[in-house]
Amino acid sequence: MEYWTHKYTPKKATDVIGQFENLKKMYIFVSQFPRVRKRAILMHGGSGVGKTSGAYALANELNLELVELNASDLRNEQAVIDVLGSAAKQASLFGNKKLILVDEIDGMYGVKDRGGVGAVIDVIKESKYPIIITANNAFQSKLKTLRKYCDLIEFKPIPDMMIISRLKQICEAEGIAYDEAALRKLAGSADGDLRSAINDLQIMSEGRSKLTLEDIKLWGREREENIMNLLKLVYKSFDADLVLTTSNYVSDDISNLLLWLDENLENEYSKKDEISYAYNMLAEADRFLARIRLRQHWRFLIYARILSLVGVQQAKNTPNPKFVSYKYPGVLLSIFQRAAKRKKMQVISELATQKLHSSVDRLTKDFWPYFDFIQQRNPEYAEGLLEYIEPVD
Ligand SMILES: Nc1ncnc2c1ncn2[C@@H]1O[C@H](COP(=O)(O)OP(=O)(O)O)[C@@H](O)[C@H]1O
Ligand SMILES: [Mg+2]
Repeated sequence: MEYWTHKYTPKKATDVIGQFENLKKMYIFVSQFPRVRKRAILMHGGSGVGKTSGAYALANELNLELVELNASDLRNEQAVIDVLGSAAKQASLFGNKKLILVDEIDGMYGVKDRGGVGAVIDVIKESKYPIIITANNAFQSKLKTLRKYCDLIEFKPIPDMMIISRLKQICEAEGIAYDEAALRKLAGSADGDLRSAINDLQIMSEGRSKLTLEDIKLWGREREENIMNLLKLVYKSFDADLVLTTSNYVSDDISNLLLWLDENLENEYSKKDEISYAYNMLAEADRFLARIRLRQHWRFLIYARILSLVGVQQAKNTPNPKFVSYKYPGVLLSIFQRAAKRKKMQVISELATQKLHSSVDRLTKDFWPYFDFIQQRNPEYAEGLLEYIEPVD
């Protein structure tokens, strides 16, 4: 099966929807290089809006050899110098010009030495070829110095109208009939992310010759049902493999799964020893999640999955034969999210009291609400403030 995102990816600059000005800037940058003000471009914006495919489309149209370096491959300073350094200096294999793409430099996040970004900067200074960098968030402090060497180009979310018309084109090319309303609904839930809109469209149209609004609505419910099935397998069965495989099809992330398991536990299990065993397993899983958040030890993820899902599953002696209707952990979920936010504010406030000569209480009331506002309107300034309060180095 070919992914439609791939099949319908832009082939030339004008195929890139909703980013005309951006592609024009990139075109000018690439064709005037090295007579340019900044020697690199930093394209930033949410996912699925045409950053990576825009760079490819441009290279394709201008017949440039695109050398892509995924930042997560570039583990440290030496690796960057080895890979990027040689790519930037060597002549192209086929004699045509090169365009270097460092995709998702935020992927360097969590890499322990900050040298990775520094090395990219060194390469920018010397590169014989234009460099385009992409990032989801260009305003994190880690990228502060890099920003000075780059022209920033913002890729905005794609307006719904444009997503809809793209979905229509694809439906027509694939011979799928559609209700307008169905496409509108798909576009609306994509939040400006064209990639996910196209992916959703492909999943939805599989085995259908017509797409109706009813299909799309049902589909939203199917997603919810997924998690209900998983809960049923956890509480009512003993098949650990099945539970783990099924959990792969559930889109909720693991910390949400923990909340679901927690919320519904006492409706399914009634014996004390079962309940206490299950809670212990959830607590263990949660400790692994904390370690992951703290140290980015992603390989712990599988432990958190096994401990929570299989742990709760095996806690019972016999399954509860009664039907239980599972509850959405709504209240828990929002408390959990707010608590996480408060905690972060508290930590920063404590640092800020020293810099801003004010109490934590005052800051919480008088400063953070405005800071939120500033962050929305002027992210660069907000980042500067944070940097002042909590220098990274
Ligand atoms: N602006 C766009 N114009 C046309 N297609 C797009 C656009 N943005 C995303 N797409 C579709 O989504 C896919 C992924 O987009 P991509 O450029 O990789 O997004 P990102 O901004 O995350 O780098 C593309 O291959 C294409 O099919
Ligand atoms: Mg990308």
